[in-house]
Amino acid sequence: MSKRILIVGNWKMHLNASQASVLLHRLHERIKIHRAIEVVLAPSMLVLQPLSMQLDRRKFRLAAQNAYHKDEGAFTGEVSFSMLQDLVHYVIIGHSERRLHFEEGLEVVRDKVASAVRNGITPLLCVGETGQERHAGETKQVLHDQITTALSNLTADEIEEVVIAYEPVWAISTFEGEIAKPDDVGLSLKFIRKQVAELYGEKTAKALRLLYGGSVDDQIVRGYLELEDCDGVLVGGASLNYHKFAGIVDVAYQLSQERGDGDDNNT
Ligand code: 13P
Repeated sequence: MSKRILIVGNWKMHLNASQASVLLHRLHERIKIHRAIEVVLAPSMLVLQPLSMQLDRRKFRLAAQNAYHKDEGAFTGEVSFSMLQDLVHYVIIGHSERRLHFEEGLEVVRDKVASAVRNGITPLLCVGETGQERHAGETKQVLHDQITTALSNLTADEIEEVVIAYEPVWAISTFEGEIAKPDDVGLSLKFIRKQVAELYGEKTAKALRLLYGGSVDDQIVRGYLELEDCDGVLVGGASLNYHKFAGIVDVAYQLSQERGDGDDNNT
């Protein structure tokens, strides 16, 4: 069986505790357990704890959207990776919104990735170029710099556990929202895997999971999931709509059945 398809819903700064609970309830009703698919929800920090009590762990895992790289100390307003250890499987790190709005640079992202791994949490490392960088022909350079720095404090074995999400900033619905062509996404994903292979070896590069993110919904997700190097998707806006998000999981399930990763273990 190939890797499980990873579908992550990034709720960003949406949904208070009761709204999040309602959405989770609907998703529970609508989404079945599929062995070939892993579904992860990334609600706001405040909502992680109550959702974890309501969650069916056979169906969903939780991700935090951010954390601070120091384990504890006088850092008012921050939450550390060590505090999230028992609550989440994943943490989103290096999202373009944090890089752009909160000025998180390459070194901060590197320290957060290392702290996540040290605390047993899988980093969902986001990388991607802005529209301006794309037009200047700098996509590969940007990806190279973001990847090499972010992974530089990890061993090859640790990198195998990391998930990298390619999210071109121009394709995110709340930035320019341009629909990225699957062929172009495929080239960038291939480039990312090649970078990791050159730095840490083929075995590591092969094990690493790569996601695509940017205006993904149930209508266009298939084009990305069919790409050779795409192991899943990171979904923003469409993850707030249970029809669309469950529809994305449905498409992933169909694809896994067609590939023969089938499971009949639905409930
Ligand atoms: P959209 O799916 O709304 O474009 O957001 C993508 C994203 O930023 C997920 O992290």
